[in-house]
Amino acid sequence: MRIAITGTTGRVGTALARHLAGPHEVIGLPRTRFDLAAPGSEQILGELEFDVLLNPAGITSLEQCEDEPLLARRVNADAPAALAAICRERGVKMLHFSTDYVFDGREPGLRTEDELPSPLSVYGKTKRDGELAVLAAGGAVMRVSWVFGPEKPAFPDQILDRALAGQELAAVADKFSRPTFTRDLCEWVEAWLEAGTPAGCFHASNGGPVTSWYGMALEILAYLADRGIATPPLKALALDEMTAFRAPRPRHTAMDTRRLEALLGKAPRDWREAMRDHLESRLISR
Ligand SMILES: NC(=O)c1ccc[n+]([C@@H]2O[C@H](COP(=O)([O-])OP(=O)(O)OC[C@H]3O[C@@H](n4cnc5c(N)ncnc54)[C@H](OP(=O)(O)O)[C@@H]3O)[C@@H](O)[C@H]2O)c1
Repeated sequence: MRIAITGTTGRVGTALARHLAGPHEVIGLPRTRFDLAAPGSEQILGELEFDVLLNPAGITSLEQCEDEPLLARRVNADAPAALAAICRERGVKMLHFSTDYVFDGREPGLRTEDELPSPLSVYGKTKRDGELAVLAAGGAVMRVSWVFGPEKPAFPDQILDRALAGQELAAVADKFSRPTFTRDLCEWVEAWLEAGTPAGCFHASNGGPVTSWYGMALEILAYLADRGIATPPLKALALDEMTAFRAPRPRHTAMDTRRLEALLGKAPRDWREAMRDHLESRLISR
């Protein structure tokens, strides 16, 4: 298959481009080649032959979205809508990547794909509008959450590096979800391709217990303790204390993954196992 991928300098785009390059022909579309913020730039797709378009590109900083709402709308909502329209016209499938932040997260429990999104932030609202446009054009959406992997440092890498350096550790303990490992996400995308690129929304996170950033950090420290590595104590923080967070964050956004499970024929593996794989390779590469 010829697979065009946007955002190939980002965490998810890098992982997808690397993973799919073996069995498929990958056409990488980093921002330098295809700037989603430039109206009309999607015409570049007219010059390319591809069977599927994957769109992980997006403005992912919540604070940047609050500060630059027009840019966020253009990149996270209007551009995916334009891409989805082009894909529908050409009869090719599009898979767009979205977020658990489309939910307001007021109620504990697992969010299903049927639950009505009610985003709190500009980021969440623009991502929700991008989703709606892609789904209306017959495309597919994968919502991911707390993504980590070897492509680009994320929260678990910060905790690991600080713990190994003996620095103070703190993490928010009252905000809940389930993380997504890029390596597993790539396998789920491959399964989606093999299943004939079905339309609709899929919640795509790892399984296992619902956790907080504090819970994830505890898991990392337990992994290090198992290897005899002493670490500093971990302080629990409250979401309301996080003054650097100017954009509101939803509290309870762990996602029900039954639709993904039906696609895979099995449950996505426990995030703790995925995290240990990631930490193992981080320690080996140090
Ligand atoms: N990371 C998470 O925890 C998380 C959680 C939930 C949902 N998601 C969703 O998953 C998707 C992938 O996230 P990620 O972690 O890979 O994000 P990321 O590492 O921040 O990468 C974002 C990508 O989008 C590109 N981009 C930004 N503005 C662009 C523009 N104007 N034109 C073209 N490309 C542009 C970036 O290019 P540059 O490198 O040039 O800036 C980068 O390649 C996003 O849509 C995000 O909403 C992520």
